[in-house]
Amino acid sequence: MSNIILPPTWRIPEREATPESLYYQSVSRRTYLKLMGLGAFALTSGLPGCSVEVSEERFSKNPKNYELSDIDKDVYPAPRNNLFEIDRQMTAEHIAAQYNNFYEFSEAKDDIWRRVGPFQPRPWDIEVVGLVQKPKKLTVDDLLRTMPLEERMYRHRCVEAWAMAVPWTGFPLKALIDQVEPLSTARYIRLTSFYSPKVAMGQRGYGPWPYREFLSIKEATNELSLLVTGVYGHPLPKQHGAPIRLVTPWKYGFKSIKSIVSIEFVAEQPATFWNTMAPQEYGLVANVNPAIPHPRWSQQTEKMIGTNERRPTIYLNGYAQWAGSLYS
Ligand code: MTE
Repeated sequence: MSNIILPPTWRIPEREATPESLYYQSVSRRTYLKLMGLGAFALTSGLPGCSVEVSEERFSKNPKNYELSDIDKDVYPAPRNNLFEIDRQMTAEHIAAQYNNFYEFSEAKDDIWRRVGPFQPRPWDIEVVGLVQKPKKLTVDDLLRTMPLEERMYRHRCVEAWAMAVPWTGFPLKALIDQVEPLSTARYIRLTSFYSPKVAMGQRGYGPWPYREFLSIKEATNELSLLVTGVYGHPLPKQHGAPIRLVTPWKYGFKSIKSIVSIEFVAEQPATFWNTMAPQEYGLVANVNPAIPHPRWSQQTEKMIGTNERRPTIYLNGYAQWAGSLYS
């Protein structure tokens, strides 16, 4: 799985690519990683670090990055599932679309929407394979035509202590799992993102690319686990992980893997991108928990992007009613 490549010569020092204010805010994170001996990867590729202030003024009003196909015109907007109403203001669409983590394209959150242009999310195949009775290879359009799409307003909590609330459109991961009929030996699903260093410059740098994550079968079949194809009533913009991503709202955001090409049923707990890179920083289960600090910052509070409102972190991000029994 490891695919460690030396930094390419096109890489310019980050201070030249990143707005100065952001560069200086991240110096302590870099110094820390150097001390931790993460060395070259940390300096070239970065790791999720402390969040920055995000205010309306810094953002373009129209970071679009999606197209509407004929199928999209039929399926969006999908009916809202009101079971998941939330306790806070929805994040403004243009803020969520310009403050992203997608290390395949950039380390700078506010730069990703500008760098995803050459990435082509259609046509897109996804395979559902491994320890199953009925393996499948589908296109995202097949899924849009056949799966029960709904809109859910979810809280999203990044391990970096920023948060947002967005209306995702998708379908329960369980609906797809039921179709392939997992064998009794399957204990986990391993999810893999695309690999295309020609368009995703971050993949030319250090990292066990492609990005990978996993869920236990119990987690994957929980009612909350959503395979997401849209947001704010339209298809996912590229920077949000088009054409299909996972959303597991009770876990830190790095579990919500973007631009998925493969779901594989396996017997052993798979390795993941972040846990391979920095196991002391990024756990395998990664449930939101205010009582367990990140090694470099507290997780007791979170900051909403866009408004900078600070709120107490809630255990399992407020989803204990659905996910709590998984861990008791
Ligand atoms: N998926 C891939 N393939 N690559 C990534 O870098 N970042 C993760 C997750 N999924 C990431 C990914 C992290 S750290 C977060 S917080 C969320 O995506 C961010 O999702 P958003 O940009 O849509 O808000």
